Amino acid sequence: MRSSELKIAILTISDRASRGEYEDRGGPAIENWLQRALASPWTPLFKLIPDDRLLIEETLITLCDEEHCQLILTTGGTGPARRDVTPEATEAVCQKLLPGFGELMRAESLNVVPTAILSRQTAGIRNNTLIINMPGKPSAVDDCLNAVFPAVPYCIDLLEGPYIETKPKVCKAFRPKHALMKRDEE
Ligand code: MTE
Repeated sequence: MRSSELKIAILTISDRASRGEYEDRGGPAIENWLQRALASPWTPLFKLIPDDRLLIEETLITLCDEEHCQLILTTGGTGPARRDVTPEATEAVCQKLLPGFGELMRAESLNVVPTAILSRQTAGIRNNTLIINMPGKPSAVDDCLNAVFPAVPYCIDLLEGPYIETKPKVCKAFRPKHALMKRDEE
């Protein structure tokens, strides 16, 4: 059965932002992009935690299994530095990986910066929740969401979540014809 309320977790993963040494800019960039792109009602849930693999895994599990978020967007911790462990934590809690998300985000980002190759960002599914990693930089968040979000509403359909509508000027969601709701077919 489809769930009706769309709950999206925005999880910032950063040692320095969690210690208050600098402002979290990745989380607000995700919220801002979603506010511009989503036509359906949604509720955000924000979390800010350090780059600690066990804590990231525990937080992802809570957001999936207890908070029942249909989508979790992480930001930060995808690079090659010693403390960057977001992709490992994501893979550890997911039952299925969706490597196409990381491939597309890197491919699009490489048109912007050569260092996009340094991001190990990935995506996967735990139960009915889609988890997608974004880099920490706000402009990278925009590049990556522009690239992959068109496929997100149909993925949430397949996970039996709510029917997500987007504002076509910002993001054109794609669904196979049989999956379109009547009003979207015109
Ligand atoms: N992707 C885009 N679109 N734009 C960027 O500026 N920066 C890259 C990469 N991906 C970047 C990007 C850099 S420099 C790094 S180190 C990695 O993302 C990892 O970033 P993170 O550790 O903040 O997740």
